[in-house]
Amino acid sequence: MNDISFLDNNYNPLFVGRNYTYIPETQSTNLGLKKLIKAESLPEGTVISTGYQTRGRGQAGTTWESGRDENIMLSALLYPKFLTVANQFLLSKAMALATGDFIHEFLPHQDIKIKWPNDILVSGQKICGILIENGLRGEQMDYSIIGTGININEVFNDKSRTSFKGITGLDYDLRDLEKILFSCIEARYLQLRANKAAISSEYLAALYGFGQQMRFIDKLKNEDFEGIIKGIHQDGRLIISIGAEERLYNLKEVVQNPVSSLRM
Ligand code: BTN
Repeated sequence: MNDISFLDNNYNPLFVGRNYTYIPETQSTNLGLKKLIKAESLPEGTVISTGYQTRGRGQAGTTWESGRDENIMLSALLYPKFLTVANQFLLSKAMALATGDFIHEFLPHQDIKIKWPNDILVSGQKICGILIENGLRGEQMDYSIIGTGININEVFNDKSRTSFKGITGLDYDLRDLEKILFSCIEARYLQLRANKAAISSEYLAALYGFGQQMRFIDKLKNEDFEGIIKGIHQDGRLIISIGAEERLYNLKEVVQNPVSSLRM
């Protein structure tokens, strides 16, 4: 174990993680939480955490693979009824910032960026993925399941991913770390209630590639192009400018900075 002195550092979430269940193995914590909320009423901040997922789910229909008992994999339940359906992407921004805050606590000297919509990269390598699944009621949000996978003790051979241990060489106690993550989630969630503009501006400041010329693949047109990320539309789409033209993309429609075609 490393010396986690910041464990004494006032990390005491009021509601996130108060109702906490750990399951050694499950299909997917997002799926599990979704089934539970259909069956019973759960307090805001309920968390299901696991050591292994047999059907771990990623964004845009992908899978999430993680070594047994090596990484954080959990889902937290929020009731962001103060958000409209139209501005639900604000929650995604807040949760990406929360995870970035958490990672910063442990890796304070690293270059931590959010890759749209809410991957977290350390020096360009993915360390965390977030899958948010929302329940809507009319024009308002009803509930949100924040599924988070953070690479902690697993060491990867490929250069696309990294972990805490991959960077520091240390082993971490996953249950201790989760408590700090809950504090970070709660703090950004409360900030979101109070100051939506601050969440949006901090998200842009942390956005990987923002304002820089970068390569993309338009998956619908099968077209490789260079453009500049100009910002995020209210509905969460990525705004990319190509000269005078501006394009808006959904997650399944674009690949940012494709590794296989990077110019060296
Ligand atoms: C992505 O980067 O594609 C998002 C990955 C999200 C993975 C987490 S692990 C805990 C939760 N349960 C799931 O099935 N997925 C999320």
